[in-house]
Parts: sequence; C-alpha cells; structure tokens
Amino acid sequence: MMNKFAPTALKISAPCKVHLLGEHAVVYGKPAILTTVNLRLTITLEPLPSSIARDDLIDPDLEKLKQVIEPIVKIYSKINKIPPYKIKVESQIPIGSGLGSSAAISACYIAVLLNFLKVKCDINTLNGLVYEAEKVFHGNPSGADNATIVFGESIWYRKESADLKLIHLLPFSIPSKLADNFILINTGKPQETTKDMVLLVKDLYEKKPKIVNAFLENQERLVRNLLDVLKNEDEKEFIRIIREGEKNLESIGVCSPQVKKLIREIEKAGGAAKICGAGGKTKATGIVLAYHKDKKMIEKIAKENGLNYFTAALGVEGLRQG
Ligand code: MEV
Repeated sequence: MMNKFAPTALKISAPCKVHLLGEHAVVYGKPAILTTVNLRLTITLEPLPSSIARDDLIDPDLEKLKQVIEPIVKIYSKINKIPPYKIKVESQIPIGSGLGSSAAISACYIAVLLNFLKVKCDINTLNGLVYEAEKVFHGNPSGADNATIVFGESIWYRKESADLKLIHLLPFSIPSKLADNFILINTGKPQETTKDMVLLVKDLYEKKPKIVNAFLENQERLVRNLLDVLKNEDEKEFIRIIREGEKNLESIGVCSPQVKKLIREIEKAGGAAKICGAGGKTKATGIVLAYHKDKKMIEKIAKENGLNYFTAALGVEGLRQG
C-alpha cells in the first residue's frame, strides 16, 4: 500500500472516516467499504528541555490518551524512558460520533511520538500499533477504522483472523456523481460508546443468533453489491442498497427511534440515509450519512429537525505530515 507518511515530521495529521456500508458486520469477519472524509485531526509535538518534569506538562484531557499510547510506543521502540515533550491537538472531527476520532488521534500520536524518538516504522506496522490502541478504547474492534484513517482514500476491509486483515484500496474512486450528493448530518454524540454498541450486538448474537446471522449474510451481500454499484455509478441501485443496509442495521438494534424517524423522512423524500459506525440505541447515533440526488432536500430535512449538517470531500489522503 502507499506510504506518504513522513518519518521525521513532528506535525502529523489524519482524516476521519465513514462506513459506506459494513459496520458491525465487519467485527464478525464480513467485508466493509469505508472512505476517508476531509475533516482532519492534527498533532504537533514540541520537544522540551530535559530538565523539565514532564508529568506537569501533559494537558489533563490528554492524560488518558498518553497512558494508552506511550506504553504501545515504548514496547515497539524498546525505549523505556521518553524524553520530555508537549503535544498540541487540533481537530475538526466530532468526537465519538462514528467518524473514527479515536483512531485518528491514536494514529497521529503514535506516529509523532515515534518520529520524536527517531524510531523507524513502516506504515503497516504503524497501522498495527494504532489497532492496539483501538483495542484498549473499543474492546473488540475490527480494525477497519484505523486502517482507513492510516492508509487513506477508500478501502475494502475484511478481518480474516486476529492476525490477518485484508486491506485493499478500492481500484476506483467513488464517482463524483455519487460523492457530490452526500451530506453528513450530525445527530449528536450517542449516549452509548462504540464499545457498548459492539457488546450489544455480541449479546444479541448470543441470545438470538438467527437474527444476527441473517444480518451478517444480508450485509455481506449488500456490501458486495455496493462495490459494483460504485464502479457502475448506478444511482438507483445505490439508493436501494443504502436503504436496505440501514434496515438491516436497524434489525440488530443499533439505530435509535429518533434517528429511524429522521431516516424515514429522508427516504420518503426520495433519498437514502444510514447510521455511520457503531450507532446508538437510545437517542443520538452520531453521524448519519445521507444521500439525495438533490442535496437541498436533505438540507431542508436536517434544518427542520434542528440538526447540523456538512459536506466534505471523500476519499482523501490518510496519515501524513502536516
Ligand atoms: C465503528 O466505527 C464500527 C464498528 O463496526 C466497530 C468496528 O468495526 O470495530 C461498529
């Protein structure tokens, strides 16, 4: 895979991601298609004089992150003591809303810290280290979020086993005819974390395996169809697949009643929309990916529901310098 990651920079940025389809099913080894979104998170590291007691300098908000990231970097680099430094985080990514903010911050932090320590790391290994951080934050992640954010553009992802993950760049970009008509609606930060939602599905699988097995089979079929549809720029089929994919996600309880209502409104107006990422059970579900051939229709619905929305370029560069 490509590597535009500069191995010396002390300023690193990463994009966020959306699942075009395949979230939750991807945890169970089914394929997913994800693309990067041009909202970026940047970490700048400033080396400090060695006389400084570094523990006083870490922003309390970053303390938890530091406690996850530094051990991962120390084990990989075989360096026990990290010299004093300060980091600054700037982000355009809404937190905990299905856009992979945790993977973006972990990727930037690990990369910048390795650069600071002058420890070499290829992009695949780096992605593996970010996955270690994701495991701490999310319990049993598929690894799709971090792979998309690190490698960038649009990817086909499938976790074959704990040690083998298929990460393939889509051999074509998302056609502009489709990409230009997406709107991301922010329904707000869900009460449940990604970890909670992944556990909810696991619990359902244990109690009602038939429901989850049907979900997995359907989602795999739809994701495979989506690949052809993207290539053929087939808008009608695209809308059908996103609608069906969303219904299928609803069948495992990852979309709250209030967001289902919003999505039905968009469908009624001729569009399609889906939760994006882990979703939410009670109220907000984070970002909803909405599509309509006339974007104004979605803007109108979002406004009527008092929700913020935005557009952003898709399929952008992954982890990079600056
Ligand atoms: C979270 O963005 C997507 C999930 O499929 C979890 C994962 O892939 O690790 C719900």
